[in-house]
Amino acid sequence: MLKPLLLLSTLILSGFGLIPKPSPAVLPQDAAPVPAATTKANPVKVTPEGMARAKKQYGYDCEMCHGATGDGKTDLAKDMKLAMLDLSDPKTLADVSDGTIFDLIKNGKDKMPGEGDRAKPDEIWNLVHYVRGLSKGGAPVAPGK
Ligand code: HEC
Repeated sequence: MLKPLLLLSTLILSGFGLIPKPSPAVLPQDAAPVPAATTKANPVKVTPEGMARAKKQYGYDCEMCHGATGDGKTDLAKDMKLAMLDLSDPKTLADVSDGTIFDLIKNGKDKMPGEGDRAKPDEIWNLVHYVRGLSKGGAPVAPGK
């Protein structure tokens, strides 16, 4: 009983090995040095609803480490001995692209947990707006409001 199964899986495995790898659509020398998501500008527009939701989400998932103002001077950060950056300082994220912040919020970094599938992409993009707003004294305001 075992033998045919083993034979079958060997066949399948070697079969996969025989399939030629698809050639990449973009040649390495043409490829951008950073992955697409990293360079992507925020596709989500600032709206009062989006910012209200981001504020709530920040309150649940981020504030315990980063603090309401983003300065990172929280008890949890102290307890966990986290080296926090000051998000309320405009210099902190000045050279960081929207796409990089998106990836960070989605995937996490070192001791920072990512939102993963808990947040939809547009919610994460709103959080990107929100954290950028921290260095301007609060959530960004929708144009015309
Ligand atoms: C467990 C604590 C913790 C939580 C919760 C947390 N962070 Fe962080 N965050 C960190 C740490 C630690 C860093 C790394 C600081 C560093 O880069 O040296 C960081 C870095 C950042 C940065 C700076 C990016 C950079 O270039 O380093 C941003 C922006 C950020 N977090 C946003 C968020 C948002 C938004 C949330 C909520 C969705 C969140 N964080 C939740 C701990 C946390």
